[in-house]
Amino acid sequence: MTDAPSRRDLIIASLSAAGFASLGLPEEAVAQGVELPATPACDAQAAATPRQTEGPYFTPSSPQRSDLREDGAGELLVLSGFVLTRQCRPIPGALLDFWQADPSGQYDNRGFRFRGHLFADAQGRYQFITRAPGLYPGRTRHLHVKLRGGAQSPVLTTQLYFPDEPGNRRDGLFDSRLLMKLRPAEGGQLGRFDFVLAG
Ligand SMILES: [Fe+2]
Repeated sequence: MTDAPSRRDLIIASLSAAGFASLGLPEEAVAQGVELPATPACDAQAAATPRQTEGPYFTPSSPQRSDLREDGAGELLVLSGFVLTRQCRPIPGALLDFWQADPSGQYDNRGFRFRGHLFADAQGRYQFITRAPGLYPGRTRHLHVKLRGGAQSPVLTTQLYFPDEPGNRRDGLFDSRLLMKLRPAEGGQLGRFDFVLAG
């Protein structure tokens, strides 16, 4: 497969530019079909996304990027959704800052592996691609995220969880309102989560 590097670059470029990939390499197939509708479907008074503890491993000033993949193994996860107000209005340009353990369950506390921030588009939609985090002692699998609707808005710090994880029932922080919707795709999983900001 001599054209792999250029195709990969093209895919990453198309993910960055348009948010969607349309090429069919097995590794990238998960990135297909993540297209969100132009407007969200939700009630006029949605419940705000619950806050959760930041935990010990947040690092400020993460790089801006929507692709947290690193070289190496690990199941791909493409997560997308809306950032909304409680009145179901999209929040264009909302900031999302993600951090997570790597596929072996380690946090990078010296650098920025599996850390990055991105901004929702003009319709309040976001999409990022990563590798699913591994387990680390004492917790069920999760992603961390901080969100902000605008420069003057309060920060929401929370965590997202994986459905059907044996560790969810044993995890004292687990909250079923923070479960991603996941569906398998060739090469990994497609995830969906819509955030609702209170302030
Ligand atoms: Fe964590």
